[in-house]
Amino acid sequence: MFSRTFLKRSTFILNSVKYVTKAPKPEIPKNPLTSVYSANNQKANGTVYDRKPFKMSLQAGKTYSWCLCGKSKSQPLCDGTHKDIYLKISQKPIRFTVEETKEYWLCNCKQTKNRPFCDGTHKQKEIQEATTIRV
Ligand code: FES
Repeated sequence: MFSRTFLKRSTFILNSVKYVTKAPKPEIPKNPLTSVYSANNQKANGTVYDRKPFKMSLQAGKTYSWCLCGKSKSQPLCDGTHKDIYLKISQKPIRFTVEETKEYWLCNCKQTKNRPFCDGTHKQKEIQEATTIRV
């Protein structure tokens, strides 16, 4: 049925595949300003804006404001919508910076435990099934 050469090659390929390892998980960055601003101590998360993170190029040393309430129209960053007294939003934006200029995955589900960076929380069933603000 199968030639001896075919079987030898197939066995070699299968044995090679056995030793392939997964790539290491990418390191999740930390916000160096976490202890500087009291807004980082807020317990409540905002409304789920999207079910996936947003990739954004950030400059080292520059200070950004990440939207926690989920109502900003310039996601994932704050546009000041939380200041509208009629919306009664209690969450304040999270000020953050990065130590290296490169692209980062910023949380857009607003449920991360490592604000403002995505930590994979958006993969949870409740968030994947949640109603989002983003259309
Ligand atoms: S987008 Fe919020 S944890 Fe990933």
